[in-house]
Amino acid sequence: MKTKLAILPGDGIGPEVMNEAIKVLDAVADKFQHDFELNFGNIGGSAIDALGTPLPEDTLELCKQSDAVLFGAVGGPKWDNPKAQTRPEDGILEIRKKMKLFANLRPVKIFPALINSSPLKPDLLKDVDLMVVRELTGGLYFGKPKKRWSNTKGRKAVDTLKYSEKEIDRIVRVGFELAKKRRKKLTSTDKANVLATSRLWREIANEVAAEYPEIETEHIYADNLSMQIILNPARFDVIVGENTFGDIISDEAAVLTGSLGMLPSASLSSLPNINSSNSRTASLYEPIHGSAPDIAGQEIANPIAMILSAAMMLRYSLNLHDEASAIEESISKALNEGYRTKDISKDGGQVVPTSRMGDIIASLI
Ligand code: IPM
Ligand code: MG
Repeated sequence: MKTKLAILPGDGIGPEVMNEAIKVLDAVADKFQHDFELNFGNIGGSAIDALGTPLPEDTLELCKQSDAVLFGAVGGPKWDNPKAQTRPEDGILEIRKKMKLFANLRPVKIFPALINSSPLKPDLLKDVDLMVVRELTGGLYFGKPKKRWSNTKGRKAVDTLKYSEKEIDRIVRVGFELAKKRRKKLTSTDKANVLATSRLWREIANEVAAEYPEIETEHIYADNLSMQIILNPARFDVIVGENTFGDIISDEAAVLTGSLGMLPSASLSSLPNINSSNSRTASLYEPIHGSAPDIAGQEIANPIAMILSAAMMLRYSLNLHDEASAIEESISKALNEGYRTKDISKDGGQVVPTSRMGDIIASLI
């Protein structure tokens, strides 16, 4: 059967890392006899330039018609005018919202070959295996009012942090369900000492926790968690939090793996078995890093986060577990053989360009 995939490379290093993920998907299709139909869509800054909008109607339609979406990155200095009506980032934010991708899963696992690439001591890293579950369609990113204006006293701007019971309940449940299949520990992060939304979050998390007595639940303030994740990262299993907290904590957690270029993510409209509805799960897979315009076009970007995102897509949306494992093992092998992109070359190894890293991983499938 043909699998329809929407491919949205975006801006900056997005197209470069996407090329490598496609190479690897081609190798998987060859080896395991699959037919992946790739349909390309415009998004972000390049869509603003071509069509005046960061998320053209055609692109959204393509995503809705596809079995899964693979997304690179958007943004760049060219579109950074603070007064601009629309920004490249609005493209990805709108897709998340319109496809109802409220659950963002960001697994953090250390490849043993890279244990010396992190600035943290290897001892702290050896048992790290955690999953950040970031709420993705609410919170500070989406609350209204959200605007800027000026008056005689000067410039002003407002963002709004707002959550409903339903939004908190469904994301916390995703956290518990994942924890059930992992090490049975859930850390809910908030700022309940300051924020009303956080107090509601904590209350609802506790109510849902009562339905999961086998899971050990704890609450940690987001500022303290930021410290604990560096002091003792191996103690965490599933961490669930508000959109902005999840954004910040996942970049911080990337340091454990050696580079932001190593972390994939899955954005889902439901988790199979829960958040049940008859509609199928919509899904988008993207590296957690951005478009890195400063290194675009230089063949130094790390394509591994993008390639791992493709593996997550095979596992979560297409049920192709052996294929996903084949990709992860190829990455391990490439790293074990000493191949590195610049960002993960602190411990030596052979530094190869972006496209060569993709070739090597594809050839090991
Ligand atoms: C991420 C990114 C995005 C976000 C940006 C590019 C809008 O940082 O996916 O973590 O803030 O969500
Ligand atoms: Mg981010």
